Amino acid sequence: MPTLKPAPAALAGSPPAPIQAGQYVPRVSLRPSEYTAALIQVLHGKAADWRGAQVLEIGSGSGVVLAALGAMGAASLFGVDIEVEAADEGLALLRELGYAAISRVEQGDMWLPAAGRRFDFIVANLPHFPMPPAPVKGRLASWSYGGGDGRELLNPFLAGLGQHLAPRGRAIITHNAFVDVEQSRAMLRPQGLGLRIAQTFLINIPDVKLELLTPAVLAAETGRTIHRYGPHAFADMHIVEIGALKHPD
Ligand SMILES: C[S@@+](CC[C@H](N)C(=O)[O-])C[C@H]1O[C@@H](n2cnc3c(N)ncnc32)[C@H](O)[C@@H]1O
Repeated sequence: MPTLKPAPAALAGSPPAPIQAGQYVPRVSLRPSEYTAALIQVLHGKAADWRGAQVLEIGSGSGVVLAALGAMGAASLFGVDIEVEAADEGLALLRELGYAAISRVEQGDMWLPAAGRRFDFIVANLPHFPMPPAPVKGRLASWSYGGGDGRELLNPFLAGLGQHLAPRGRAIITHNAFVDVEQSRAMLRPQGLGLRIAQTFLINIPDVKLELLTPAVLAAETGRTIHRYGPHAFADMHIVEIGALKHPD
């Protein structure tokens, strides 16, 4: 059983040593979150849909979402992550699980490594927490930081989706309910894409994240999508499915 170890060098800014074949050890800084668990749960519910699919994940982190899709029979797995250590670890996990022949993980920004390519299925659990840039709980700032309104990564992702989905392609993403879903829907419509909420989960917002949450968002969403009980806070988080618009709305 692999043990978790911290990655102090990477968090301090020095480049991590690449993981050698057969030496996969997951980093604490890339441990999967509640968001990832919810995303995988929804993917499990549609497992037959991913069989034979060409898959892209933007922000592949630990690689575990791609690994789950590999287990569900995806034909190819392509991960992109801005962090060198995440690209390295994601590929190491996929190799460890026997998916080397169908896997590729590249370090790069958003759509750049996938320029000019289209995929049957695109998945993303992007950083979209409205907050200033800051590391949280041993993670790099790029894990959660979504800009003041949470849309800094979400908007370029949505803007590029139409150019990277195959004709009958679909995307499934995590989407905090306190980041405006209707704005996302409006961004997709001109690309001929529609959005539906597949499932909503209640997630805990730990104190360290609550303290960073943009005050205007906290004020507007408390009692609506953010639920506070004494010192404890929770929020609604949607798993959203995106595909071709069947009927203009
Ligand atoms: C919330 S984490 C999700 C990771 C992954 N789904 C998992 O469960 O391990 C978000 C990921 O997006 C990556 N990321 C942040 N900005 C990015 C960008 N501009 N392009 C690609 N990846 C990015 C982060 O490095 C991080 O690994």
